[in-house]
Amino acid sequence: MLEAIENPLFQIISDAAAELELPAYVVGGYVRDYLLGRESKDVDVLAIGSGIDLAQKFAEKIGKKSHVSVYKNFGTAMVNYREDAEWQIEFVGARKESYRENSRKPVVENGTLEDDQNRRDFTINTLAISLQKHNFGELTDPFGGLKDLDSGIIRTPLDPDITFSDDPLRMLRAIRFASQLGFTIEEETTKALSRNASRISIVSKERIIDEVNKMILSDTPSIAFRMLEESGLLRIIFPKMQDLKGVEIINGKGHKDNFYHTIKVLDNLARTTDNLWLRWAAILHDIAKPATKRFDPATGWTFHGHEFLGAKMVPGIFRELKLPMNDKMKYVQKLVRLHLRPIVLAESHVTDSAIRRLLYDSGKETDDLMLLCEADITSKNKEKVKNYLKNFSVVRQKLIEIEEKDMIRNWQPPITGEMIMATFNLKPGKMIGEIKTAIREGILDGIIPNEFQPAFKFMLKKGEELGLKANPEKIKK
Ligand code: CTP
Repeated sequence: MLEAIENPLFQIISDAAAELELPAYVVGGYVRDYLLGRESKDVDVLAIGSGIDLAQKFAEKIGKKSHVSVYKNFGTAMVNYREDAEWQIEFVGARKESYRENSRKPVVENGTLEDDQNRRDFTINTLAISLQKHNFGELTDPFGGLKDLDSGIIRTPLDPDITFSDDPLRMLRAIRFASQLGFTIEEETTKALSRNASRISIVSKERIIDEVNKMILSDTPSIAFRMLEESGLLRIIFPKMQDLKGVEIINGKGHKDNFYHTIKVLDNLARTTDNLWLRWAAILHDIAKPATKRFDPATGWTFHGHEFLGAKMVPGIFRELKLPMNDKMKYVQKLVRLHLRPIVLAESHVTDSAIRRLLYDSGKETDDLMLLCEADITSKNKEKVKNYLKNFSVVRQKLIEIEEKDMIRNWQPPITGEMIMATFNLKPGKMIGEIKTAIREGILDGIIPNEFQPAFKFMLKKGEELGLKANPEKIKK
């Protein structure tokens, strides 16, 4: 394993460990990722003794290029080291007990290498490379982690009930690694997910959402969501998404299963964007379908207004899941609200004014909205999909043409409220808004072009209709 630790920094850690007479190892994610051919600059160093002492000795040796943060309660220290790149090296003392990141109890560092490996989450994360002088670069693999890496298996080193109850977040980590790496969760470990699912409720929402976001960012997120659902974890961590599952049949008519539809949309979108928030919009685009579902004997199942109710539900869901309550939330909300608009356009004759309205309403999110809508076509009928996508490309082309001509996306009213007040000697009030709206509607409907002169004339006409007298001086100007 010498190649994995060929960077000089590992030699320096080794020297520091030798001076303190502490055996030290590189463990966990760095070793795993190296063996998978994934480059990483996050290194976990395990000391058989005090990790903090080792971190400080290491920092002393490299001098100015480092910064040490000590977390006494966790018994860990983080060193940021800048050399050829930005390295983050976390030092930890070997433990007998498990990795309880949220525990208030100070961590006791009195374990051996074996104790520590026993208490890690998965066999593929227990691999350790020695930094000791006598066997520098030697791999310790007590649980067949190498073999599991090779065959793509997620398996706990101990009885999975023990490993999961030590830290229930590991259930989500198992699913996350499976979807991120394309691995399979071993059978006993899978069964333990369902058995221990209810324990996830003791884990903080911040840690949970961190893992869920990593699942969402994987190449095929549906793998993770299927496992979350099958294990019973989804019901606990995100019940509103669980509610999408199921098909109701009345008079022999069923609707599609919105859970499977949603994760298919998510997979489709994952092929065209890495934007986490756009992927969240896919997860939430039909979230109000259960609440708006009706059966009409004449037309069958309807979900009227699910886009508006869905948008309304977004802030509550973000708050509940501890997602950020900022512009990201507003962005997701906007996409959920608008997600049917391009489909409606693609289904009918596309008029210029409908395109202008879409550009106006979606603004700088127009392109993302189109990606979401294209991903939303999940019909099994190939012909239907082809037709929709063809119509979408017409909509896209029109969006480009109209935007070039009318510049609606970043629309600023050509006539300001101040101009209206000055022209008609008006004080601030309702009428100003009315005139402004009329001008905007006139432009969107294509009655006037998006330019100052025609808009000014239109304003004078509108004022007249409202019984206002224009200031002659202003008109001349
Ligand atoms: N670990 C654990 N149980 C946890 C979290 C971490 O046993 N709940 C152990 C694993 O051995 C893991 C190591 O601590 O490899 C480092 O954890 P972390 O940096 O969180 O994860 P990585 O495995 O490095 O992977 P990633 O960076 O993708 O999260």
